Amino acid sequence: MSSLQEMQQTFARYGQEHVFRFIGELPENEQAELLENCREIDLEEINKLIQTHLQKEEDASLSADDLEPAPSIRVPENGGDEEAWEKARADGEALLRGGKVACFTVAGGQGTRLGYDGPKGTYPVTPVSKKTLFQVFAEKIQAASQRYETRLPWFIMTSDLNHEETEKFFAENHFFGLDRNDVFFFRQGRMPAVDEKGKLLLAEKNALALSPDGHGGSFKALARNGALAEMEKRGIEILSYFQVDNPLVAVIDPAFIGFHQQTGSEMSSRMIPKRSPEEKVGNFCRKDGKIQVVEYSDMPEELAQKTDTGGNLVFTAGSIAIHLIDRDFANRMANSGDLPFHQAHKKVPYVDENGAKVEPSEPNAFKFEKFIFDALPLAQNPLILETRREEEFSPVKNATGVDSAESCRRDQVAQFLRWLSAVGVELPAATKEEDFSLEISPLFATNEREFRERWERLDPKPKIQNGLYIS
Ligand code: UD1
Repeated sequence: MSSLQEMQQTFARYGQEHVFRFIGELPENEQAELLENCREIDLEEINKLIQTHLQKEEDASLSADDLEPAPSIRVPENGGDEEAWEKARADGEALLRGGKVACFTVAGGQGTRLGYDGPKGTYPVTPVSKKTLFQVFAEKIQAASQRYETRLPWFIMTSDLNHEETEKFFAENHFFGLDRNDVFFFRQGRMPAVDEKGKLLLAEKNALALSPDGHGGSFKALARNGALAEMEKRGIEILSYFQVDNPLVAVIDPAFIGFHQQTGSEMSSRMIPKRSPEEKVGNFCRKDGKIQVVEYSDMPEELAQKTDTGGNLVFTAGSIAIHLIDRDFANRMANSGDLPFHQAHKKVPYVDENGAKVEPSEPNAFKFEKFIFDALPLAQNPLILETRREEEFSPVKNATGVDSAESCRRDQVAQFLRWLSAVGVELPAATKEEDFSLEISPLFATNEREFRERWERLDPKPKIQNGLYIS
C-alpha cells in the first residue's frame, strides 16, 4: 500500500499534485480518506483519457460513409416467421426451467433528468396501486419463477450514490416477496471528473470528485464483487439485462432467450422501430461487418435523417437497452475487453484553490463513462430482435412530456385495455387511457398471452371500471 508521500509523488508525475493541496490542514482520518480515494483511481488510464479525449473536438471515427443499418429479426406482426418465434419460445422456456437464466438490473445512475431525489427504482409508477419500479420488476421476476418453476436470481448494480438506500428499501419492503438469498446488490466502480485543463477536481478538501463509471463498468463490477462466481456456482449461463427506468420490460422473455441460444449469440439486444429520427435512443448500426450502437447524441444528423427512395428512414432500429449476455462473455469482458470511455461535459461542484466550494452554473468538467453496448462489436454472433414498443417500452426519464411518469402511466393503461379488448371484454364507452385508470398486477399476468390464460379461468370476472386493480 502506498504511503501518503509515495502517492503524492505518483500524482506529481502525472501533473495532479494539487489534489494534496489541503493535506496539511486535514486531520489524520481525513488524510486517510483522501488517500483511499486516490488509490481507487488508475492515473495511467486517466492520463490517457485526458490525452485522447480532451484534446480532440469530436469523434472522427464516426464517418457517415462507414455506417449501415444493422440486420434484425422482426416480430411476426412485422413479417417475422411465426413458427420460428414459437420454436424460440419453447427453447427459451426449457432454458428457464433448467435454471440457466438470471436477471440483471443496472440501477447506479443519478436520475438527474427526472428530478427525483432517491434511487430511481423507488419511484412509484403504476397507475392505480402506485407500485415502485423495483416492485414491478420484483413481481415480474416472481411471476416468471413460478411459471417456469425455477429460481431466478436477481443481480442489481447500484453505485455509491444509492447503494445503502437501495438495500434499505428492499429490506423494508421484505424484498417484495422474493427470497432475499436470490437478490444480490453490488456497487459499480467510480471515475474521477477533470476540469477543462485535465486536472482532477476535489469535491471536498479530503475527497476527489468521483462519479459512477457508466453501465459499461458492470462487467468488471460483476467480477470484482463475486457476482459472476455466484452465477457460475448456480449454473447460470445467461443474464437478462435491463435498465431501472422501464416498467414495461419483459424481465424474462423466453422467445428472446431461445433465439439467443439458437444463433450462438454471446450478447443479444431488443430493438424497436424509432418513433422519429430525433428519438433519444441508441441506433443499431453496422460498421466493417460489426454490430454497434451509435448513441443518439453521437449519431451524425445526416444519417439520422437519411431516407430511402420510398421516403422511409434508413436507420430506424432503436435500442431499448434490453440485452441477453452470456456469463462466459461477461467474464471475458471483465478480464480482457476494455470498453472505450465516452466523455460528458457536466456541471461538477468542486473546491477551488482557496478552499472555497464552487457550484458551477455552466458545465466546467468532464466525466467519463463506459457503455455496456460497446461490448456488442466484441461479441460472437450478436443478435438483434425486434419487439413491440407498446408492449415493452415506456421508460420514465423526464419530469414531464416524452418518457415521463405521465406518458408511462398512459402507456400502462393502454396496454391493460388492449389485453382486455383482446379477450373480448367490452370496455365502457369512450374509454381512453388519458382519462381512465386501470392496473393489472404482474402477479396476475405479465403479457397478453398470460392474461388470456388467467382471464379465461377467472370466475367471477370483475366489472371494468375506473380504478380497477386486477391481482
Ligand atoms: C439509455 C441508452 C440509450 C437507450 C435508452 C433506452 C445509455 C448511454 N444510453 O439512454 O442507448 O436507447 O437508454 O431507454 O445508456 N446507469 C448505471 N450506472 C451509470 C450510468 C447509468 O447503472 O453509471 C443506469 C441507470 O441507472 C439507468 C441506465 O443505466 O438504468 C440508463 O442510463 P441513462 O443515463 O438514463 O441513459 P439514457 O440516456 O436514458
